[in-house]
Amino acid sequence: MSLPIPFGWYALEYSAELSPGAVKPLFYFDEHMVLFRTEDGQAHVMEAYCPHLGAHLGHGGKVQGDALTCPFHGWQFDGSGTCVSVPYARAMPKRAAEGPCLYSYPVQERNQMIWAWYHPRRVVPLWDIDDLPELSDPDWSPIDCYDWEIESPIQEAGENGVDIAHFVTVHGALGVPEADITLDGHRRETKLAAVAPAIDDEGQIDFANTETIHLVSRNYGPGMSTQTFTSKLKTAMLGTITPITAGRMKLCFAFTKPRNISAQFNMLADGMIAEIVRQVQQDIPIWENKKYAASPMLCDGDGPIAKYRRWFSQFYDDASVRPKRAAVIASSERPEQAALVG
Ligand code: FES
Ligand SMILES: [Fe+2]
Repeated sequence: MSLPIPFGWYALEYSAELSPGAVKPLFYFDEHMVLFRTEDGQAHVMEAYCPHLGAHLGHGGKVQGDALTCPFHGWQFDGSGTCVSVPYARAMPKRAAEGPCLYSYPVQERNQMIWAWYHPRRVVPLWDIDDLPELSDPDWSPIDCYDWEIESPIQEAGENGVDIAHFVTVHGALGVPEADITLDGHRRETKLAAVAPAIDDEGQIDFANTETIHLVSRNYGPGMSTQTFTSKLKTAMLGTITPITAGRMKLCFAFTKPRNISAQFNMLADGMIAEIVRQVQQDIPIWENKKYAASPMLCDGDGPIAKYRRWFSQFYDDASVRPKRAAVIASSERPEQAALVG
């Protein structure tokens, strides 16, 4: 059994990586796309292929004002995917007057990233993106980013956080952590309590003693997660998972830490970040070589895996019934006008 691509908001690029006028080709959701920022600063994501004769707008396309110009014959499209100029035609093609002729993905810029809404039937966004407050707080550091491309469906990577038994075998945890899951529509909160060497108020590690550390991980749909450590050692992380195809994904971690902490606590925060990165590298060979076990043989110590899977199943839709003129349906409703269902 293979898992389809779930619908949701997915991070495509860091905001800082796309200056006004920039154009980039992208491939996510098994679809070729073009990402660009108009001169007024607005980011757009559209399907890649020009409706005229099929050039890829992300390879040589140029931003002019608030339009994207095709590299092949110079036709211009605005951010909604509507053709606004054909430089050599006496009359605009009839379809240009009928509305967008390129699908334009709903886009938002939040948490220092550019997000696109993906739905296999081009249904408009069903929820809004939440903010990780630390990412806009001047008392927290600029983000420290890590990314990977991994051969795995995204559901499998998300399951990692509730699969508590693997923390001991794969990551060498001192004991199986406790996980408590709360589900609320597209949101999921997992509280993990794990045993670790104690840290005193000066930030010295006391290997003779242990203490319980608390980690709160929140998921907002299938593509966004945040992690905050609420012990003495504070760091916050935005984790994004974006499907490249149904079986391949891009994983990005962006960490921030308080600016005004002692050198010792800063060193510990860096150690914690390095440890989380190391743990992902330990998970990757398992994810890339495993198969999806649709009917797993679970035991009582496995953690809330079945609960996680029931929650995740709400993000699947039947992609086979995509309507033919899908572009028109969705582009006429920009995300800010879409009804958001919590
Ligand atoms: S293919 Fe784009 S303008 Fe001709
Ligand atoms: Fe893991």
